[in-house]
Amino acid sequence: MGDEEEAKASVEIWRYALGFAEMAAVKCAIELKIPEAVENQTSQPVTLADLSSAVGFPPPLLRRIMRFLAHQGIFKAVPTKDGATGYTNTPLSRRMMITNRDDKSMAHMILLSSNPVAVASYLKLSSAVVSGKGFQPFEAAHGKDAWAYAAEDPGYRETFNEAMACDTRRVVPAVTNTCADIFDGVSTVVDVGCGTGEAMGMVVKAFPWIKAFNFDLPHVMAGASEFEGVENVAGDMFGLIPRADAVFIKWILHDWSDEDCVKILKRSREAVPKEKGKVIIVEAVVEQKKEDDDDDKLEYARLLLDVVMMAQMKNGRERNMEEWDHLLTEAGFVRHEVRDINDLQSVIIAYVS
Ligand SMILES: C[S@@+](CC[C@H](N)C(=O)[O-])C[C@H]1O[C@@H](n2cnc3c(N)ncnc32)[C@H](O)[C@@H]1O
Repeated sequence: MGDEEEAKASVEIWRYALGFAEMAAVKCAIELKIPEAVENQTSQPVTLADLSSAVGFPPPLLRRIMRFLAHQGIFKAVPTKDGATGYTNTPLSRRMMITNRDDKSMAHMILLSSNPVAVASYLKLSSAVVSGKGFQPFEAAHGKDAWAYAAEDPGYRETFNEAMACDTRRVVPAVTNTCADIFDGVSTVVDVGCGTGEAMGMVVKAFPWIKAFNFDLPHVMAGASEFEGVENVAGDMFGLIPRADAVFIKWILHDWSDEDCVKILKRSREAVPKEKGKVIIVEAVVEQKKEDDDDDKLEYARLLLDVVMMAQMKNGRERNMEEWDHLLTEAGFVRHEVRDINDLQSVIIAYVS
């Protein structure tokens, strides 16, 4: 066992020693739209020469990037008829298409994670751990928190909002398909901290009887898209949230301290009717005991997301079920249930009565 572990460690350590370069190669493929270039070629697999002329860059470095990405299984290396190496896309490389706005692309999320603004905060993580609570990596790196930074920097704001939107396109269909019943009897929904607002666009499409509201800070709503059946409202979730039968709140509470979450949840509870009101929370629940191996694979991503929160968000964190129970009870909800949607996030439905 000792020898086996030693041997494994001597290989595994390279993931950490050189892992940043993997992110760099992936970012490079996304920025140069290599998956799109491979997809658009009529002749498959695509030779390096064809790929080079499609993207318009010389072959030498492109070949080395493709060699690495194919080794990682991101692209598939397939021999061509005349014995050269050709490349085809895989489900993984298709998820790196930045021009693809379907429910699978994660290109914008990768660009956010590898953005210099985000990376500068990650590099200060150890100082945050040493300090325990007071030190905020994002603020230490940029002099202000992520929301103030996004308000002042349109480029970062767009990167951030697009990253959130790609998660929305991925997970909201899972919510509307798997948990359709929670929208029964609901005539109005408000998405608190809606970002680009696509979630409500999807909800009204799935449930056309619903009138929805998108609600976020004024600088976000100023650039918000319009969706049929969805009204845009600017405001502050610590103030007054527009009234609706249900509040939808996705990837907001993990940005905030327990104290702030209780305030947001109380404002949400006050926004819905006393008799049938509900708050639909889409967030990760960490440390859940699952029987299926596949779910354990996503736990890795949930725990990484918790590290992201530590570095990027003031007091941000992922929570286990006990911590969710505590927040919801403190905010005055009488009961709640959790639905597993086989994803990074679960759906927590909190009821007013
Ligand atoms: C992590 S993003 C999530 C966006 C969206 N819900 C999603 O999942 O794609 C958090 C959002 O909260 C919004 N936000 C932050 N502070 C807010 C406040 N005080 N009132 C309303 N929205 C706020 C941000 O502008 C941002 O759009």
